[in-house]
Amino acid sequence: MNFIAKTSAGLEQVLSEELLSYNYKDIKILRRAVSFSGNLTDLYNANYCLRTALRILMPIAEFKAQSDIELYNNIYNIGWEKYFDYKKTIYIDASSYSNIFRHTGYVAQKTKDAIVDYFRNKFTIRPNVEKFNPDIVINLHIFENNVIVSLDSSGKPLNQRGYREHTGDAPLNEVIAAGLILISKWNKKSFFIDPMCGSGTIPIEAAYIATNTPSGYNRKSYSFMHWNSFNSKEWDFVKERANSEIIKSEAEIVCADINSSVIDIAFKNAKNAGFTDFIDFKIDDFFNSNSGKDSGTIIFNPPYGERLKIEDIYDFNKSIGNKLKNSYSGFKAGIILMKNDDAKSIGLKSSKKINIFNGPIECLYLEYELYQGSHKKINNVQ
Ligand SMILES: C[S@@+](CC[C@H](N)C(=O)[O-])C[C@H]1O[C@@H](n2cnc3c(N)ncnc32)[C@H](O)[C@@H]1O
Repeated sequence: MNFIAKTSAGLEQVLSEELLSYNYKDIKILRRAVSFSGNLTDLYNANYCLRTALRILMPIAEFKAQSDIELYNNIYNIGWEKYFDYKKTIYIDASSYSNIFRHTGYVAQKTKDAIVDYFRNKFTIRPNVEKFNPDIVINLHIFENNVIVSLDSSGKPLNQRGYREHTGDAPLNEVIAAGLILISKWNKKSFFIDPMCGSGTIPIEAAYIATNTPSGYNRKSYSFMHWNSFNSKEWDFVKERANSEIIKSEAEIVCADINSSVIDIAFKNAKNAGFTDFIDFKIDDFFNSNSGKDSGTIIFNPPYGERLKIEDIYDFNKSIGNKLKNSYSGFKAGIILMKNDDAKSIGLKSSKKINIFNGPIECLYLEYELYQGSHKKINNVQ
């Protein structure tokens, strides 16, 4: 079976590396997605373990359609009772890049009509539509006249790990937080700090990674549990196998912020994830504190430029650069900024630059190797 793991733009490479680490076959990088092959057990594992996938789709039909009647007929003829029964609630998630099917809402409506009519004609009862918590999510992807129909095995996106009940003002998506840590190649053992942690997403994802805890460890449900094919024994097997890899970690992870109320939020989220013993929470101003370490990894997303005036962004980013130079030599630093924030004002030469979308916000991830000794050189120059 062929599957498609969807992700945020910019995380395709790191997702393909994750898939490779689980020995998945036929891995191919696509736009905001990576395809791979496997069986249903592999699908359960992908949902439970992948850190950088947003959802896993299982394509069930592909056809050409020139009109809404052709679309309707092809959807109608899929043989839906193979996949789920009429007692399940459904939702259609459609995207269309086509001159024939310009209105995504209309395409979703036609698809829903075809499925509902199919069940009603065959079983006299139809499934109901549920927008917020559907059992079955049907994904429709149209490119010109080519239509791919998939079952979304995840349902709610996989960044919803089950620990983040509370957020600060501008939370980072959990999948992106995990992606940045994996991109940084943090060794899972050395000192790790997010000095502007907000609701704690980056340190909590670091704790998941350091302990090999599956990304779905605290999540209760997935859409595949509502499929006819659901095999609870295989699902238990997948969870037990992944859970047996959980380790105690020696890493020291610090979650700091200037704002005490967001530290409370971060603490509650870490508690939900089961990591309060393992993460050190601190109320600290980044510019007036020191890690006290010679080396480690520092990853953070400073306040977004939307909340600061342009001239303030310049100064803020410049101060971040200076602080990194002066207090974090020996560290690897990763910063995610809004694309239009003035990244140049950080004033350091980046070793990696990746465009990433945090939801609809276009961001830039910058990585810096702050070599030991650069501090001295800079001081000598100044
Ligand atoms: C964009 S938010 C971080 C969001 C976080 N990654 C999350 O997932 O919730 C930026 C954070 O930087 C914090 N901050 C701003 N200035 C700071 C400073 N000088 N020192 C420490 N934290 C600061 C803010 O309080 C805010 O929580």
